[in-house]
Amino acid sequence: MKKRILIIGASGQIGSELTARLRSIYAPHKVIASDIREGDETLMKSGPFEILDATDYDAIEDVILQYEITDVYLMAAMLSATAEKFPMKAWNLNMNSLFNVLNLAKDKKINTIFWPSSIAVFGPTTPKIMTPQRTVMEPSTVYGISKQTGERWCEYYFNKYNVDVRSIRYPGLISYRTLPGGGTTDYAIDIFHKALKHQKYICFLNEKTSLPMMYIDDAIDATLQIMEADSANLSIRNSYNLAAMSFNPEEIAKEIKKHIPDFKIIYQPDFRQAIADSWPQSIDDSQAREDWGWKHQYNLEEMTKIMIENLNKE
Ligand code: SER
Repeated sequence: MKKRILIIGASGQIGSELTARLRSIYAPHKVIASDIREGDETLMKSGPFEILDATDYDAIEDVILQYEITDVYLMAAMLSATAEKFPMKAWNLNMNSLFNVLNLAKDKKINTIFWPSSIAVFGPTTPKIMTPQRTVMEPSTVYGISKQTGERWCEYYFNKYNVDVRSIRYPGLISYRTLPGGGTTDYAIDIFHKALKHQKYICFLNEKTSLPMMYIDDAIDATLQIMEADSANLSIRNSYNLAAMSFNPEEIAKEIKKHIPDFKIIYQPDFRQAIADSWPQSIDDSQAREDWGWKHQYNLEEMTKIMIENLNKE
């Protein structure tokens, strides 16, 4: 059967890039973008778009039947910093949207699901350096608890109902096309915008807070790779660790200074410091490399160059 794809949360940071890439691979009319709000002009003009609430089962089912969807990428979620402010809203969105697509797959209305997890599934008791695939997981944030629970349900639906759900624990993702919303790793994007505009950035994390990060093109490559992988090769049905680079605010500021010598960074940690402190500093992703051939391309230096070049054009 030919693939017909639905992206839920297509107007967001990952969804917009994923939609563009999928539309460059499959015919644009076979890649349906959806979100609770419209996306930017490029997204809206590049193929079909539906306004869709990820928590509304009937509305998702209607779109799936209308377009004969086979694969769903569920990218709608409330991220870590916003989720701390609206715990019940975050739980409702992050869990109900997942149950909606898992149940549609269980009832054979779709074949395959991609659902993103996060480094936020780990917590303060997790080993912080080269965090293993399988380890202590006691997430201390609302977002992390929702992703950890989601992982358990994905594995359960795979084992119990044979639902083909595939997942990656994304690190902080860095991109220039669409802004992220409400995450703790967002500083690593905002820093570029402020560096170019004001040559100054007030950072909400302290200078030594190392976090796992990745340039968006690597994240999109990984997403497409795991979705194309032979199901039999996927030994993990909760979610795969995934890594590319790790850096702290001081290190990224130093890299930016190579391009903008007058750039200054000031540290004023806020509530997001505690969230970042509960997460790993680096990730062991050898299982993803072994099972489906994952390999990252971009490091801090290359990513910085791309971000500055492209934001400069705007
Ligand atoms: N980038 C996300 C956040 O900061 C983590 O998955 O919330």
